[in-house]
Amino acid sequence: MKLHDERRDYEQGQLRRNQLPQNPFELFADWFTQAQAQANSPDPTAFTLATVGADGQPHQRIVLLKQVDATGFVFFTNYTSQKGQDLAHNPLASVHFAWLGLERQVRIEGRVEKLDSTASENYFSSRPRGSQLGAHASEQSRTIESREQLEARYHQLNSDFAGKDIPKPEHWGGYRVVPSLFEFWQGGRYRLHDRFCYRCDNSLAATSPWRITRLQP
Ligand SMILES: Cc1cc2nc3c(=O)[nH]c(=O)nc-3n(C[C@H](O)[C@H](O)[C@H](O)COP(=O)(O)O)c2cc1C
Repeated sequence: MKLHDERRDYEQGQLRRNQLPQNPFELFADWFTQAQAQANSPDPTAFTLATVGADGQPHQRIVLLKQVDATGFVFFTNYTSQKGQDLAHNPLASVHFAWLGLERQVRIEGRVEKLDSTASENYFSSRPRGSQLGAHASEQSRTIESREQLEARYHQLNSDFAGKDIPKPEHWGGYRVVPSLFEFWQGGRYRLHDRFCYRCDNSLAATSPWRITRLQP
């Protein structure tokens, strides 16, 4: 594999200080809408979530954004998974959206809190039945001998719940990332990319003022 010559120029857009809204959620909403509108851009809601385990080892994985508003970024998962264990130990996370078709990335850091169980139940009940069964069948992040065992569990649950509503498993629900930092990155000519950081001491990000700084590329 020859990777030395794999590169491209970033020339689609620019980000200038005088274009920036005071509130980073507004800029996020603009960029997110553009990512969703972009043809051939699979999974614009997908983001990488980084957490840190009790031993200091970082772990990352992709999850899907299911809600964003002035209170933060919501995703759903299994609370006993690796990420759930990491967050129980250290409720800080880093989120990364890569919208490479637009030559953009957004980095978000903040505190993570569990959604209340009613909100999780509401979302769970809106999911397709197959996904609901999957959430019951999988002890996410634990080892299992074979796929057959997993499918057998799924089919067993399918018959156990036949004709009934499927309740949300106790160990499954949402998390909200409440940001204290956003970084917006727009690829630029000559590798002189535009990077702007928004910081907020108060985790009540919706109402407190954000300090904006430009970072060197
Ligand atoms: C496109 C995509 C979307 C995903 N969405 C989710 C999600 O919303 N929630 C989730 O728990 N896992 C999701 N996964 C699976 C995770 O990446 C990961 O494998 C799983 O959550 C276990 O992670 P952990 O062992 O680090 O806790 C998704 C994977 C991909 C590739």
